[in-house]
Amino acid sequence: MTPTSRRPIPSRRKAATPGSATAVPAIGEIPIPAGKRAHPALGLGLWGLGRWGTEDEARTKATVARAWELGLRWFDTAEVYGNGRSERLLGDVLLRSHGGTEAYVATKVSWEHLRPSQVRAALVNSLERLARRSVDLYLVHAPDAHVPLAETMGTLEALWKEGKVGAIGVSNFTVDELEEAGRHLSSTRIAVNQVHYNLLNRDEGDAVRAYCRAHGILIEAYTPLARGLLHGRYLDGGRVPAEVRRYAHRLFEPDRLPQILERARALRALATEAGVPLASIALHWLADQGAAPVVGMSRPEQVEENLRAWSVRPSARVLARAEALARGDRA
Ligand SMILES: NC(=O)c1ccc[n+]([C@@H]2O[C@H](COP(=O)([O-])OP(=O)(O)OC[C@H]3O[C@@H](n4cnc5c(N)ncnc54)[C@H](OP(=O)(O)O)[C@@H]3O)[C@@H](O)[C@H]2O)c1
Repeated sequence: MTPTSRRPIPSRRKAATPGSATAVPAIGEIPIPAGKRAHPALGLGLWGLGRWGTEDEARTKATVARAWELGLRWFDTAEVYGNGRSERLLGDVLLRSHGGTEAYVATKVSWEHLRPSQVRAALVNSLERLARRSVDLYLVHAPDAHVPLAETMGTLEALWKEGKVGAIGVSNFTVDELEEAGRHLSSTRIAVNQVHYNLLNRDEGDAVRAYCRAHGILIEAYTPLARGLLHGRYLDGGRVPAEVRRYAHRLFEPDRLPQILERARALRALATEAGVPLASIALHWLADQGAAPVVGMSRPEQVEENLRAWSVRPSARVLARAEALARGDRA
């Protein structure tokens, strides 16, 4: 199967209300069978702020505002991000300042709040911080082995019926967990599984992604730029900060790092040869797998650069070569 044939066909609609002279690429949307609205093909992830402590709030607000201006509509947050600070900031900037009815807002219930009363309370609190009556997508951030999925999914379905949740998703779920969760939904289905997925970290999740494709579950790819590695960061030396290494799914661990760096450098050389940004290859390779990348961005310039990268679609030959190089093929 060619990469292109696996890709759900995004409708390339024009982005709305650009607020500046910068060229605005169409972001695209992916229809999802179990969602009330089509799902934007590219999103802004709001994990970094608050969590890493040093984030400058004004800069983060400017980043969200710039994303909105340039047509990004999918914003991914979670109750645990900055202990609610991420949701509150998104609510402030996006919805209070800009109206935000067009926004596609996704948030997550913590793995510590999966009992029915906790799920309900968590959503009430998230909606209050986001200043919304409903979210477009509500994800279980990760399963908790001590809480039966029947309890969690039953409550999520009730919230979906009440219209507080446009679609139900999960994150970091294995095939067994997806099957178990799906069994406890009767009127709707799991719309999304958000997983760690990028060119440099993919084989481990093959079975999960195959299951999602077979069951019409959209894969949202988190850490799509491998924490900046797929922007060329750290490829010429430079210390990887501890907060970047942490939660990076072993990308930066000493037993793997030399190989990862070698492959990332080969990808960078391919990008240079093809005359495209490295991030274009990283993001469009994911899109060709049928995944929707959710990118962490902490500065307005990063939003601009990543949207420029999204607007350049590498050829099928370049993406196929990238796949081979990322697997370690040197020929
Ligand atoms: N469901 C889950 O369990 C889970 C787990 C992890 C992440 N996520 C979601 O996925 C989102 C993205 O993941 P991620 O932040 O881990 O990884 P990522 O998107 O691969 O990397 C984000 C980092 O790359 C750097 N970057 C972005 N654009 C850049 C540019 N144009 N030039 C240079 N560097 C650039 C920035 O680093 P600096 O900020 O240092 O400049 C940014 O914070 C998160 O925000 C969150 O919404 C979900």
